[in-house]
Amino acid sequence: MNQQKKGTNRDNNHYNPVSVIRKKRDGETLSNEEIEYLIQQYTTDAMPDYQMSAFLMAAFLNGLNDNEAAALTHSMLHSGIIVDLSHVPGIKVDKHSTGGVGDKLSLILAPIVAACGVPVPMISGRGLGHSGGTLDKLESIPGFTVDIDLNRYKEIIEKHNLVLAGQTEEIAPADKRLYALRDVTATVESIPLIAGSIMSKKLAEGIDALVLDVKFGSGAFMKTVEDAKKLAKTLVGIGEQFGKETIAYITDMNRPLGNAVGNWLEVKESIDCLNGDGPSDVMEISHLLAGTMIYLGKKADNISKGIELSRSAVSNGSAIQKWIDIVKEHGGDINFIKNPESYPKASHIVDLNSDADGVIAAMDTYLVGMASLELGAGRKSKEETVDPQAGIMLHKKTGDSVEKGETFATLYTNKKETLNNAIEMLKSAYSIGEEAIKPVRLITHKVDKNGIHDYSD
Ligand code: URA
Repeated sequence: MNQQKKGTNRDNNHYNPVSVIRKKRDGETLSNEEIEYLIQQYTTDAMPDYQMSAFLMAAFLNGLNDNEAAALTHSMLHSGIIVDLSHVPGIKVDKHSTGGVGDKLSLILAPIVAACGVPVPMISGRGLGHSGGTLDKLESIPGFTVDIDLNRYKEIIEKHNLVLAGQTEEIAPADKRLYALRDVTATVESIPLIAGSIMSKKLAEGIDALVLDVKFGSGAFMKTVEDAKKLAKTLVGIGEQFGKETIAYITDMNRPLGNAVGNWLEVKESIDCLNGDGPSDVMEISHLLAGTMIYLGKKADNISKGIELSRSAVSNGSAIQKWIDIVKEHGGDINFIKNPESYPKASHIVDLNSDADGVIAAMDTYLVGMASLELGAGRKSKEETVDPQAGIMLHKKTGDSVEKGETFATLYTNKKETLNNAIEMLKSAYSIGEEAIKPVRLITHKVDKNGIHDYSD
């Protein structure tokens, strides 16, 4: 095993947190050593949350240049070990999304790709800001554990070609802490902080290649395609620098993906997808990302062939079988996968009905995410637990026509006290008019080591 050691042997005595924070606050450039010092101090509990929060806000407001961003990723990556999976046969490929609303794609494509023979070591995050997180979704399956140690991580991927885990004290511990802190300090939407977070855990998990889904729009952290391109270029650049072939797609998040928003609701929708009965937007991106992973894993000669294999894994049942096997291995109750309707329902279920005939002209997807958080599906402080049953089913999305009295969304919660807030948020997320805004392309660009390309399939 050729794992790198946690921590550094640098003598940090001549730095102090306040002076480094002040430097960034005043818009100065930090050295690699100063960034490494902050990350090392915070990861070893020598620096409290309030100082790291101040640094994050200074970095958020004043930015980090390319060199600082690279130093941040490097320090975060080396806060823990880099897993060596060279004993697992095959090219290991993972996928990561920059975050959105209703984004359950990892739950669908991970078993598809593993069923096609490509090993997928997947370290994910929890809900962040208004967006959902894969770990919270997985934990909504009773018994499912994402807190596993390195030996168990290796054991599971060897056995199933797939492992689903969270950052640990061994793997990406800096991201484990910073991610939770950024979530509650309004410091998420920053290209260098997102890049450090994503790439430190992806490079630590033992991959050979990576596929990224970089989202833009009202429900994404990057609101414009231009910012999404910048983020994608940064992420691909870091991946390639570390010798990992990296392909990113830029995809639209102006409307939620699929119809389910909220932890168990999304797991249930992803089971439908794996059973061949998923919403078309979710399936289109899932097959593209899975097909690209299968291609990078050298199980297909090109991406189109990869997509064909991905579709077959759904239609021949091997993907759902892989999902059942992996849920069982992680301790999850597979009865809920086989029979999702048996999952207990939230105590308050409220339909929202349209008060006019019309067309859903637009959706503020950020507000949909915030309404779901208000219902209990996300966190407002680090200590809060998420409610697996809370969330929203969207019966109508942009472009759909709706009649007066027709239900356009259903809310699920166990928190009666915040229900009215969530209802108001969700109502104002929908604009009902006479005509929908022009349909956007779901996938707009592909970004790889050769640059940014318009995507047309
Ligand atoms: N996903 C991550 O893992 N980190 C971020 O900062 C944003 C999305």
